[in-house]
Amino acid sequence: MEDKVKAIIISRDETLVRDLEEKLVTMADIQAMVRDVRGSYSQIKEQAPRLLFLDIRDDAESVFGLAGRVERFLPDTRILVLNDSKDPDLIIRSLKTGAADFILLPVDKNSFLASVKLALEKGARGEREGEIIVISSTKGGQGVTTLAVNLADHIHALTGGRVLLVDFKLQTGDVASFLDLESNYTVVDLLKDMPRLDENLLFSSLTQHSGGFYALTAPEEMDRAEMGDTEDIGRMFRTLKEYMDYIIVDIPHEFTEHTAPVIDIAERILLVSQQIVPALKAVRKALDLFRTVGYEEDRVKIVINRYEKRNEIGQEEMEKLFEQKLFAIVSNDYNAVTDAINKGELLSANHEGSLANRDIAAIATLLTGIQPKGHDQTRQGVFRRLLSVAHRVAEKGNQK
Ligand SMILES: Nc1ncnc2c1ncn2[C@@H]1O[C@H](COP(=O)(O)OP(=O)(O)O)[C@@H](O)[C@H]1O
Ligand SMILES: [Mg+2]
Repeated sequence: MEDKVKAIIISRDETLVRDLEEKLVTMADIQAMVRDVRGSYSQIKEQAPRLLFLDIRDDAESVFGLAGRVERFLPDTRILVLNDSKDPDLIIRSLKTGAADFILLPVDKNSFLASVKLALEKGARGEREGEIIVISSTKGGQGVTTLAVNLADHIHALTGGRVLLVDFKLQTGDVASFLDLESNYTVVDLLKDMPRLDENLLFSSLTQHSGGFYALTAPEEMDRAEMGDTEDIGRMFRTLKEYMDYIIVDIPHEFTEHTAPVIDIAERILLVSQQIVPALKAVRKALDLFRTVGYEEDRVKIVINRYEKRNEIGQEEMEKLFEQKLFAIVSNDYNAVTDAINKGELLSANHEGSLANRDIAAIATLLTGIQPKGHDQTRQGVFRRLLSVAHRVAEKGNQK
């Protein structure tokens, strides 16, 4: 028998954990038994186990979110989902998320060990690859930068991963100002360093915010020639995906030859708009354009910023206009947002409980599939509403 592999079990059921431990005794060392799926991602990532057993009986939603992350970032980890019924929906979702197998409880020893062996025999899924999330709009002043900086913060807090915020508003970028960040390493510098770039050079050059995420700021002066061509920009972002878990890109509202290559490879494009007719109409046009060139609905999402319930253009009307569900909404929260921007702070610094901060945190959960630690479902109505929107979108995507 080959060496024992590392395994992590996530379950609240101690009897089950002991049972699995006993059955796996010749094959695996159980490194950790994390009781709560929320917040377990960073531990899993650190340990990078070969086997990950996920009990989905308590909180299937969070588990699938977690499984998605693991699938993406830990190519050597095999996921085995455990459940006490053969619910076809759950089986399909498990396999779609990348689980190697779905195991029925109570565990039958022989078929369980056979599943584990088969899972281990499957080859690695290839290189780890980060996810690019482009934040854009169709008009200025919609809240792109506000969302970008605070999403970087929340995604970093949730995942504990390597998160990079890129200010791609060359010349007019204000990420550095929003974060009160002194940075002398910009997108143009990175482009110049590309031929000799490695992990060391990248991380020693990037500016790190005290919140823990990295930022690549915009140059104050830019010579078009310095940006190279679209190939160079595409290559730069593909390289960044190798080193980062999440890359959040603040994009100017006019699509240009510089932004096209990023938009083209981004996993997600969030279009930010306020509840104002011309802005909403422009979003509809942009959606049409994305649809014409064949972008799937799953990639292009709409976020309504400065949302006011009493605004006469309601959620339903907007969804009808877009022929697409809203991905999320961010409340109108002038005092908190303005104060944070003026001080060069993140919302989480001094406006943690503000509506805008909570709404943006909820978007980070939608994007990562990870619930915040100690999250209380009953308290956060907005949060629940957002999740239900997301589930509808996810279900629609799954039906395809
Ligand atoms: N959720 C919000 N509530 C209230 N005001 C907001 C909100 N989001 C953004 N703002 C305001 O809108 C203005 C534009 O935001 P910004 O993030 O700079 O947009 P963009 O990057 O799209 O130009 C800022 O002055 C900010 O105060
Ligand atoms: Mg901006």
